[in-house]
Amino acid sequence: MAGPRVLAANVVRAVPRIGARSHVMTASATASLLRLSAQAGRARLSLTRAPRHCLRVASYSSSAGGAASSPPPPSTLNSSRPATIEVNGKTYTTDEWYNVPQTVLALTGRKLHLQKDHPVAITRQIIESKFSTATYKRYNEFDPVVSTIENFDSLGFPPDHVGRARSDTYYINETTLLRTHTSAHEAELFRASASDGYLISADVYRRDEVDRSHYPVFHQMEGARVWDRTKVPNGDVVAAIYADLAKLPTHDVKVEDPNPPHHPERNPLQSEHHSPEEAEAIAAHLKRSLELMVVEIFTRAKQAAARQDPNYVDEPLRVRWVEAYFPFTSPSWELEVYYQGDWLEVLGCGVSKQELFINADQPQQLGWAFGIGLERIAMLLFQIPDIRLFWSKDERFLSQFTGVQDNLDKLKRFVPFSKYPACWKDVSFWLRSTSAAGGNTAVANVHDFHENDLMEVVREVAGDVVEDVQLKDQFTHPKTGRKSMCYRINYRSLEKTLTNEEANDFHERVRQGLVEKLGVELR
Ligand code: DAH
Repeated sequence: MAGPRVLAANVVRAVPRIGARSHVMTASATASLLRLSAQAGRARLSLTRAPRHCLRVASYSSSAGGAASSPPPPSTLNSSRPATIEVNGKTYTTDEWYNVPQTVLALTGRKLHLQKDHPVAITRQIIESKFSTATYKRYNEFDPVVSTIENFDSLGFPPDHVGRARSDTYYINETTLLRTHTSAHEAELFRASASDGYLISADVYRRDEVDRSHYPVFHQMEGARVWDRTKVPNGDVVAAIYADLAKLPTHDVKVEDPNPPHHPERNPLQSEHHSPEEAEAIAAHLKRSLELMVVEIFTRAKQAAARQDPNYVDEPLRVRWVEAYFPFTSPSWELEVYYQGDWLEVLGCGVSKQELFINADQPQQLGWAFGIGLERIAMLLFQIPDIRLFWSKDERFLSQFTGVQDNLDKLKRFVPFSKYPACWKDVSFWLRSTSAAGGNTAVANVHDFHENDLMEVVREVAGDVVEDVQLKDQFTHPKTGRKSMCYRINYRSLEKTLTNEEANDFHERVRQGLVEKLGVELR
């Protein structure tokens, strides 16, 4: 079965991109950008970038290289593999699974979520402000290097889940990777049981397409709240949860929540572990807690807009709960916010699978967890039109947020300082019709070409000078069976106008990189 990414490349990329037409990025253009890029890669917009993790059916695209447990296909992508690498002062030994480019490795130390007045850090602070420090212990310094057990197995991901594919995830070696989500720390925090709740913020890593809302590194926050059956008054956990709920503030935003709290097929209760009343109490506490967070974020966004734009028309905030699936929660939900004409997915959450607590030697505990992507929230909050900007050290970007962490009421929308001209270049090539016999060349045959490999070649050559990469055309030769692909690469620096020579030089190096690393035949 074709995986979602194959679909993205073959079908949905025909959708025109904002980057192709707009010069000035308006508020609604930012929203459309997020929407379009979501269409490109997924069924609909994800602000957590959750879909890979919420796939119910474990399936590999034809390009994923076989089951995650079998050795990876030989690839020249790692031909210059170092024997060891260092991340945050610790040394790790690589093996043939290694697929982390130097450019990505170099970002492991940036910690934007902790950089004073960086929009990612400001967004973290706004979220933290809605969770009391007395209950929710903060963890903002976890290392990005985790085991496959932490990232996948501990959370109940099946062995052949698509998220484990080497085409999607950065591996250091067969059992060690750059975390793909902050949920990788859930099991250890449940085991440590150091508090009734926690909030994590951290950098996460995913091999992905190149466009203005995808970057190989982004930031997530994860939160959880647990109760202990043996510690609540009279052992009545339902009463204890409702008592805690009663202590939370209320809000006056209209929330649509049309589905039953659990559903036997679509969103089941963990009936061997939780009574319906327990699951419903947990869900009620979860929903109010997360609604308060989202109302805070979007109220601040609206206040900022109103401060800057005297013609701003304030529309009532609309929020809704939809049913979802994650391997580590049941029932599960996503929270969506109505924003400039569309429902945007903001976060994923659910009642934590009891197996997590059992495996963490805390079978008497139960509770909820959520995950939220920070960049996409920040893009909406500050109207930041391009995800590359978060990594910019340009003062024209950074200085716009000075002082906000000390006074959140100073929050302002980003004012784009300039938009340099785009420079399009196309590259067309043939894929081989069969795998090259035994060698360590030519990974890009028709059977195992993966678009993310191409994306990475482009990123390695042109770095943040590439704005987006789109599949323009593909066809299979009727006689030879060979497949031809054409991609359009948009070179546009955020910091200066590229000369034609510079763009040509990048493009020539991309073309050579595709030959050397993927073994394609240029047309
Ligand atoms: N880890 C998920 C992702 O990155 C998001 C998520 C969903 C986290 C549900 C959770 C949760 O803790 O309960 O896609």
